[in-house]
Amino acid sequence: MRVLGIETSCDETGIAIYDANKGLLAHAVYTQTAIHAEFGGVVPELASRDHIRKIIPLIEGVLKETQLTGKEIDGIAYTAGPGLNGALLVGSMLGRTLGYAWGVPTVSVHHLEGHLLAPFLEANPPSFPFLALLVSGGHTQLVKVKAFGEYEIIGDTLDDAAGEAFDKTGKLLELGYPAGAALAKLAESGDPKRFHFPRPMTDRPGLDFSFSGLKTHALTTVEKHGQESKADIARAFEDAIVETLTIKCKRALQETGFNTLVVAGGVGANKSLRQSLSALCEKNGVALYFPRLEFCTDNGAMIAYAGCQRLMRGECDDLSVNVHPRWDLGSL
Ligand code: KG4
Ligand code: ZN
Repeated sequence: MRVLGIETSCDETGIAIYDANKGLLAHAVYTQTAIHAEFGGVVPELASRDHIRKIIPLIEGVLKETQLTGKEIDGIAYTAGPGLNGALLVGSMLGRTLGYAWGVPTVSVHHLEGHLLAPFLEANPPSFPFLALLVSGGHTQLVKVKAFGEYEIIGDTLDDAAGEAFDKTGKLLELGYPAGAALAKLAESGDPKRFHFPRPMTDRPGLDFSFSGLKTHALTTVEKHGQESKADIARAFEDAIVETLTIKCKRALQETGFNTLVVAGGVGANKSLRQSLSALCEKNGVALYFPRLEFCTDNGAMIAYAGCQRLMRGECDDLSVNVHPRWDLGSL
């Protein structure tokens, strides 16, 4: 089975073709960050319009690259949520329309299921069950992945997501948008001993997170010490996020008894987080899996992969187009 995957949940248009026997055949991502940067965040209306502009050329591009035609595609998978309503509608509507035109089944994919299955695009995939740490711009979750399609959320953020905390703190350090990667770069030159930020909610039991206080902490530190201290502030902030995520992963591994950890989502690209979790897993005999960097952030390959699994199980959508801007992973 050969599946066309379509991702348009936020500000990346991602298209891919995944073959159940041969693996990933091609993928392309167009990122809209330049469009949204001047507004300091994603503008939903602009995102939808840009998906409309880019989606067909991207599909034509991957078909050309693989030398396939629409007739050689056996199914279509598209992100149906969670995400921005208008942006989701662009990918879902086009996915359904192509399915109708080509006479092939289509299937809705949950964006976060895509993220947590991204390591299956690699040569040595993890095996079930595993613990997944989903750290993106919109989510920070610890998920018990019992089998394909069986997800239980055991930890969640009460306020800002990890990526959102990076972006908001980066904004007040005048690092533009999105600021995660820039903040991480700046932190490399920061003094780790100068400031100490709290590790929120690590002093009590439980697996939930709260990151909004760190942004406030960063704000008061900037006000007191000025922008000339921003590398040290970035370092203290990153260290706090990384250590907090590591402590909660350690706890969740102990609670579940799982010996495999998968890290997914844009913040999974963070080098310091990768090092800290590698050390934790090495010490505890846990196998650790990261998708390659380009599959940590939003892409069509993970949607094509997850959709292919669902289509092979006989799942498909009817002719109506339904998107779910809010959609609980645990409800799948
Ligand atoms: O998964 P993703 O591409 O989009 C969502 O589904 O949200 O994640 C984007 C998030 C942004 O908040 C961005 O600032 C953050 O991932 N990010 C990073 C790094 N690279 C991207 N955060 C920290 N360190 C990085 N190196
Ligand atoms: Zn994402």
